[in-house]
Amino acid sequence: MEGGKYLLHFFLLALLATKAAADLPQSNANANRKSYIVYMGDRLDDDASTSLLHTSMLQDAFGSESKSVLCSYKKSFNGFVVDLNEEEAQKMAGMDGVVSVFPNGKRKLHTTKSWDFMGFPQQVERAAMENDVIIGVFDTGIWPESLSFDDKGIAPPPTKWKGSCQVDPSLNFTCNNKIIGAKYYRSDGMFFPSDLVSPRDSDGHGTHTASTAAGNSVNGVSLFGFGSGTARGGVPSARIAVYKICWADGCQDADILAAFDDAISDGVDIISISVGGGATDGYFEDPISIAAFHAMKNGVLTISSAGNDGPGRSTISNFSPWSISVAASTIDRKFSTMVRLGDNTIYEGISINAFDLKNKTYPMIYGRDALNTTSGYTSRSSSYCTQDSLDQDLVKGKIVLCDTLRGSGRGPVLAGAVGMVTRSKDKTDFTNLFPLPTSSFNLVDGGMIYQYINLTSTPTATIFKSAEVNDTFAPYVVSFSSRGPNPITPDIIKPDLSAPGVYILAAWSPINPVSQIEGDNRFETFNIISGTSMSCPHVSGAAAYVKSFHPTWSPAAIQSALMTTASPMSPSINLEAEFAYGSGHLNPLQAAHPGLLYDANEADYITFLCRQGYAARFLQLLTKDNSTSCLGSTNGTVSDLNYPSFGLSISPSKTFSRSFKRTVTNVGSPLAIYRAELSFPTGGVKVRVDPNVLLFTSVGQKLSFEVVIEGTLDESLVSGSLVWDDGEHKVRSPIVVFI
Ligand SMILES: *[C@@H]1O[C@H](CO)[C@@H](O)[C@H](O)[C@H]1NC(C)=O
Ligand SMILES: *[C@@H]1O[C@H](CO)[C@@H](O)[C@H](O)[C@H]1NC(C)=O
Ligand SMILES: *[C@@H]1O[C@H](CO)[C@@H](O)[C@H](O)[C@H]1NC(C)=O
Ligand SMILES: *[C@@H]1O[C@H](CO)[C@@H](O)[C@H](O)[C@H]1NC(C)=O
Ligand SMILES: *[C@@H]1O[C@H](CO)[C@@H](O)[C@H](O)[C@H]1NC(C)=O
Ligand SMILES: *[C@@H]1O[C@H](CO)[C@@H](O)[C@H](O)[C@H]1NC(C)=O
Ligand SMILES: *[C@@H]1O[C@H](CO)[C@@H](O)[C@H](O)[C@H]1NC(C)=O
Repeated sequence: MEGGKYLLHFFLLALLATKAAADLPQSNANANRKSYIVYMGDRLDDDASTSLLHTSMLQDAFGSESKSVLCSYKKSFNGFVVDLNEEEAQKMAGMDGVVSVFPNGKRKLHTTKSWDFMGFPQQVERAAMENDVIIGVFDTGIWPESLSFDDKGIAPPPTKWKGSCQVDPSLNFTCNNKIIGAKYYRSDGMFFPSDLVSPRDSDGHGTHTASTAAGNSVNGVSLFGFGSGTARGGVPSARIAVYKICWADGCQDADILAAFDDAISDGVDIISISVGGGATDGYFEDPISIAAFHAMKNGVLTISSAGNDGPGRSTISNFSPWSISVAASTIDRKFSTMVRLGDNTIYEGISINAFDLKNKTYPMIYGRDALNTTSGYTSRSSSYCTQDSLDQDLVKGKIVLCDTLRGSGRGPVLAGAVGMVTRSKDKTDFTNLFPLPTSSFNLVDGGMIYQYINLTSTPTATIFKSAEVNDTFAPYVVSFSSRGPNPITPDIIKPDLSAPGVYILAAWSPINPVSQIEGDNRFETFNIISGTSMSCPHVSGAAAYVKSFHPTWSPAAIQSALMTTASPMSPSINLEAEFAYGSGHLNPLQAAHPGLLYDANEADYITFLCRQGYAARFLQLLTKDNSTSCLGSTNGTVSDLNYPSFGLSISPSKTFSRSFKRTVTNVGSPLAIYRAELSFPTGGVKVRVDPNVLLFTSVGQKLSFEVVIEGTLDESLVSGSLVWDDGEHKVRSPIVVFI
């Protein structure tokens, strides 16, 4: 696997990479060393002997030549980090006990109306257990002074909590009864000037995701009047444990693994990780997939973001069957920003613009015509308003037209522009916050504005403050949300479900400006941002809500409850259908009462991995059980994993027939009769379920059935569903057949 770069799954972090590049690292000494992760499966019983094992392996492989273990994982799984060249890495990969060896790459990070929008009002029924649930938030840290994390009236942490808090007096960081633990991870010690070497969040992303999952209710908040209302997390009584793994330049594999190793043994119940990117060539070459497997083994559910690389096919970045992958969809809030040109025509664009130019007009210029000829850039760059390409003398005091939708506004703001109008062919279904008055257009209206500039001797314009309007089509999956199918097992539908991830208002670090652009001096304690990073913690909060009612449910059971109760979404708006939204739109309230569960345990995932082609010898390292074998697994396919959805990838124009074996567990009324309702567009494909009635006589009872899909497919994708209905619960699974 190539060491990819993990980034947080939200938009503005792309800018952070630029910020980091602009800042020189404090230490460059380590820049050329290449560290690798040597992953060795499940933990050994004895931590001390694990450390010895790691050193002796290096001795065996490389003799007395001193190679040191940079970081050891031994609490929850087994592995270590070491500097190697490619040849040495191959040698290690061939050693006994080694599951995989891969470079320590970087990943990227991929309010509060959103809960009400999902039909989850503030006054829902709550379980007393809610304050025992611990959500581990893997992100950029936290801003503990935020009102979202005030611990007034909150009891001390539950006794199962074994984690710790990295208190630091110089940055005044402490935990409390809401934030019960916090640690930072940066094994190579390379910090950037904008990084705070503390769990304290200098960015805002981690503060935002933590408050979305489990923040208190805070009344009367808004961003300059936008999104005004109560900001709250899904489980305001639950506890937050902070694992800071992301820094100005992204999130390193070694640190992601170290944080999981701790979190699992610290006693967290749910892990929320809005991070991804990097390789897709195997479940055990991806640190999040590896770590989520061990989390599952230990009863901990991992919720991850699908990524922001959509809408292309198979752009999804977290897709292991033992974790949940979350797409991002809209809520009924959007922003409209009017621009009035000098000829009094008015165009309606989008942006979150809180600046008020008070109807005053300013001269306009097209970026292409404002090239700084000594900057080394071409007019193509200046048409995009790239940073440093614009001539300050030409742009100062003007509104500049730029050929970009997702530009940051940094170029115009540094050149002294008063405002920015953008045009692009990108889908205008979401927008950012900019450091100057901005409105964004598609090529139609943007083209008219261009023509006005082109044909007018002294073009002028003004930009109005945005208006918040109802998006009556919501919810639909936003264009940036990464799409399936699953690149490794296409028959396991990914993403699993969708949740609000556009224009989410939540807590923020008041040392990073709201637009995240230097020079913007608007520092606020709440901010509106977008990304699958924002949808992920909605599902984490909902998972914690389910857990608070059903503390003994397995990770797969909670996943099943969230997926089978999701509200169906429309393939007429999202043509990629389930590959955009999975089982549908999160419905937290219903998820606590699913009726039936599609449960799975470690052995089921091992059988799945056998069928996926992994060797028994390899899987024994994961289970630490020499009796693990793949014998008998050939009686089924990967489709027989007891997953709460049905995916079938087939070759074009060939006749196919596939059966799916499933077992459901009754968690509703003891006496229940469930009838199967199959809905599938007729055509070349036939679907049947056998038996089509399930008669339960007790809670916890398990009954099995089989779904058979056969025929030929003319279209590239057909979707339908199987709903088990007892008159009280509708247990829904999507069925997707695709080429
Ligand atoms: C340090 O944190 C405490 C607790 O949050 C707060 O009361 C105090 O004002 C902070 N001090 C400074 C100097 O920020
Ligand atoms: C803004 O100015 C224009 C032109 O002077 C005028 O027609 C319009 O009514 C003004 N709009 C507002 C909202 O004041
Ligand atoms: C043009 O770019 C050069 C090099 O970056 C810079 O020094 C100069 O100030 C810029 N001039 C204007 C007018 O923006
Ligand atoms: C208007 O567009 C034409 C054709 O693209 C170009 O040649 C001309 O320079 C433009 N005029 C101005 C004022 O931008
Ligand atoms: C937005 O419009 C939808 C559909 O017309 C409606 O159901 C919803 O209540 C509206 N939301 C708000 C906040 O007005
Ligand atoms: C499992 O097999 C390995 C390698 O053959 C051996 O070293 C180990 O002792 C065995 N473990 C158990 C518990 O039998
Ligand atoms: C396949 O065989 C194994 C071992 O004999 C058995 O436990 C399992 O239930 C079978 N699976 C299916 C799908 O028939």
